[in-house]
Amino acid sequence: MAKAAPRFVCQSCGTAHVRWSGRCEGCGEWNSIVEETGRDSAPGGLGRGQRKAGRPIELVGLAGSEAPLPRRCSGILEFDRVCGGGLVPGSAILVGGDPGIGKSTLLLQVAAALTGGGSGREAGLDCAYFSGEEAVDQIRLRAERLALAGSRVQLAAATSVRDILATLDNARAPQVVIIDSIQTMYADSLDSAPGTVSQVRASAQELIRLAKQRGFALLLVGHVTKDGVIAGPKVLEHMVDAVLTFEGERSHQFRLLRATKNRFGPTDEIGVFEMTDRGLQEVANPSALFLAERNANISGAAVFAGLEGTRPVLVEIEALVSPSPLATPRRAVVGWDGGRLSMVLAVLEARCGLTLAGKDVYLNVAGGLRITEPAADLAVAAALVSSARDRALPEGCVVFGELGLSGEVRPVSQAEARLKEASKLGFTTALRPARRRKDKPEGSGMTLREIRHLLDLFDFFAELPE
Ligand code: TYD
Ligand code: MG
Repeated sequence: MAKAAPRFVCQSCGTAHVRWSGRCEGCGEWNSIVEETGRDSAPGGLGRGQRKAGRPIELVGLAGSEAPLPRRCSGILEFDRVCGGGLVPGSAILVGGDPGIGKSTLLLQVAAALTGGGSGREAGLDCAYFSGEEAVDQIRLRAERLALAGSRVQLAAATSVRDILATLDNARAPQVVIIDSIQTMYADSLDSAPGTVSQVRASAQELIRLAKQRGFALLLVGHVTKDGVIAGPKVLEHMVDAVLTFEGERSHQFRLLRATKNRFGPTDEIGVFEMTDRGLQEVANPSALFLAERNANISGAAVFAGLEGTRPVLVEIEALVSPSPLATPRRAVVGWDGGRLSMVLAVLEARCGLTLAGKDVYLNVAGGLRITEPAADLAVAAALVSSARDRALPEGCVVFGELGLSGEVRPVSQAEARLKEASKLGFTTALRPARRRKDKPEGSGMTLREIRHLLDLFDFFAELPE
């Protein structure tokens, strides 16, 4: 067989080039092109002259007679919920996150729970943990620290995909397989180095194929580059059934597990964990955690009654508006969208006459949570007005509502659930959008103040006692 011609593949977008160049024509990235040799492992990548006539495929209807496969629950509820209610046999899940955030710890705990070593409801599954990054002794040390040394998880330090496939391709294959990490895996059908796009793609493809064939759930750990994307390729995200990202600030003790893609469940659920000296602990009531260090009666702070998936989460939003020495005042935001902040500032300025030119504006979501809901607009506006006017919101006050460009405040979904959570945590007042006619009257027992327009918010501040 003729030697395969070298290809030059962009490690960022996967575009193949005939020769090396400094900049990828596909995505414009610099220094991302690497030489790779070997056959193309992409689906349908048969070379010329290899085409054979296909075999006709039998088509079936949507309704099948088979009962859905049971999900495999670990009993770690925060994890099971993000997966959509447990692991689906034959599925592949990619778990991404920054180095050191706790992916290996999480998956070792999940594996132990699935074997019945933890509080697993479905005790007695077989789990195999292949590590390409740590030696068996290192994993054992970690297990000891996590008090999981007695669990039945099967360990191996391996990087060769061929060896792993040979181990798993038999009738006694474990029901759950963990690969830590996919970037360290090496498929010898290709010459390129581990971690390159082709290697990651080929390794994942072979492992996923076997998972489907043998019916085991496959969990792949994926590293994240500094821009926050899962290293290697986007193609990996297309190949797996679910992508979970494990995120958090290293300086904070809590970690969020978020589904960014899930073929078997919703993508807006989060799992909240706390990193302790004995591993990750589930946090069943995240609001209490996010509000733990709150200082009441300080201007520039507002508690937002948010929703993460199906779960209401209360979180504090802090704003600081201060005179700027700079010609172009600074706008800095952590945990929220910068563009959205600009919009709220523009609406405050244009519709309510709050002058912010010449002022630096800082916005921070306390505790390292990242909010994506537009319902946070009103809470952000309240924090900004509170800081600009140096008036604290009353104690026990929560805020939610979406802002329109004319300054009107729009209703948001699940107001009832938000109010219930706030009431449960001892909040007594809520600034909220006008109720929709179809909304049920809320029985939360809180004082509700409808804010129909941002100007109502200014009225609210004006009425506060000195
Ligand atoms: P790890 O799971 O190795 O991260 P990843 O696989 O994502 O790179 O987590 C490593 C960090 O977690 C490390 O900085 C120490 C911390 N840690 C704890 O705080 N408590 C523990 O019980 C364990 C096992 C780790
Ligand atoms: Mg690790």
